[in-house]
Amino acid sequence: MNNELIDPYGRVITSLRISITQKCNLNCIYCHQEGENEKPKREISLDTIVKITTSATEFGVKKVKFSGGEPLMRRDFEDIIAALPELKDISATTNGTFLAERAASLADSGLDRVNISLPSLNKDHYKKITGSPHGLPKVLEGINAAVEAGLTPIKLNMVLLKGINEFEIDDAINFAARFDGNVILQLIELMNFKNTRQFMVDINGIEKILESRAIFTKERLMHRRKKYFIDGIEVELVRPIDNSKFCANCNRLRITSSSKLKPCLMRNDNLIDINEEAAVEEIKEMLKCAVEKREPYYEENKKQITCRI
Ligand code: GTP
Ligand code: 5AD
Repeated sequence: MNNELIDPYGRVITSLRISITQKCNLNCIYCHQEGENEKPKREISLDTIVKITTSATEFGVKKVKFSGGEPLMRRDFEDIIAALPELKDISATTNGTFLAERAASLADSGLDRVNISLPSLNKDHYKKITGSPHGLPKVLEGINAAVEAGLTPIKLNMVLLKGINEFEIDDAINFAARFDGNVILQLIELMNFKNTRQFMVDINGIEKILESRAIFTKERLMHRRKKYFIDGIEVELVRPIDNSKFCANCNRLRITSSSKLKPCLMRNDNLIDINEEAAVEEIKEMLKCAVEKREPYYEENKKQITCRI
């Protein structure tokens, strides 16, 4: 397609990642808040979301991911989804605590799938990580409801934390195996946004174990993420730190909860504000401008990749 959004590094934008609120009912020790460092004066409106998404579809974008905070804190989330232009993949990343009540209505509105944060199946560890003493049973109910509603494949997000959940990978694989191939386990390397360096796990070691147990592996184009097939379960590894391949294959543009285009999770010095009145044609120009500002956070051509987190 001639009319694509292509950044100065040749990366074609194929998806949007839209944060619709910073509000959350959990308080995870590692939360990156989608890289936002200011509280929104006003949350992005349904109309603006629709206009931005419509503008992006005119450049061939077909995938939209909603995140938060916790996106289900928005009472109008179903309305937002129902109002979107035609897309191939509409997904949300959620903590899962409200899914028992809303998985069916979200699916009816047009949501295709969900990623659910499940850092531990152990009640005490879950509380330590999320601050929530009663959240875990709600999330487990939410996962069942999401499977029931067909919001699949569901990815269970497990950020690996030294001294807390690092030895729970097998439990997570066994749990995922209960859902007849509807659930993917996503193991995530911790990004240090909140003084959490002491929890960082040796990902090389984890990768070696996954490698030895997998009957086969695949690599996703997006972020060059490895997928390991273990005991009938798909295990995806998200390895963003010091990883130039991750950035070289990044194809998403972010929108903040206060309606700004955000070219990279890790930066806040290149945002572009979209005001509520902006028309689709104006937004299209802003999208082009934001894409011009995209640069890989970890660059291949630097001799030594420096960790700036
Ligand atoms: P799908 O594969 O489309 O389901 O999306 P996803 O797996 O990227 O979404 P999810 O919200 O579940 O994120 C999984 C992990 O990837 C989280 O730790 C995110 O913070 C991380 N991640 C997603 N996008 C980016 C990005 O652009 N940069 C970095 N550094 N990390 C990201
Ligand atoms: N490092 C890695 N992943 C994170 N997430 C949140 N904060 C971090 C972090 N500091 C993941 C959670 C959530 C998703 C949106 O991002 O697993 O599901």
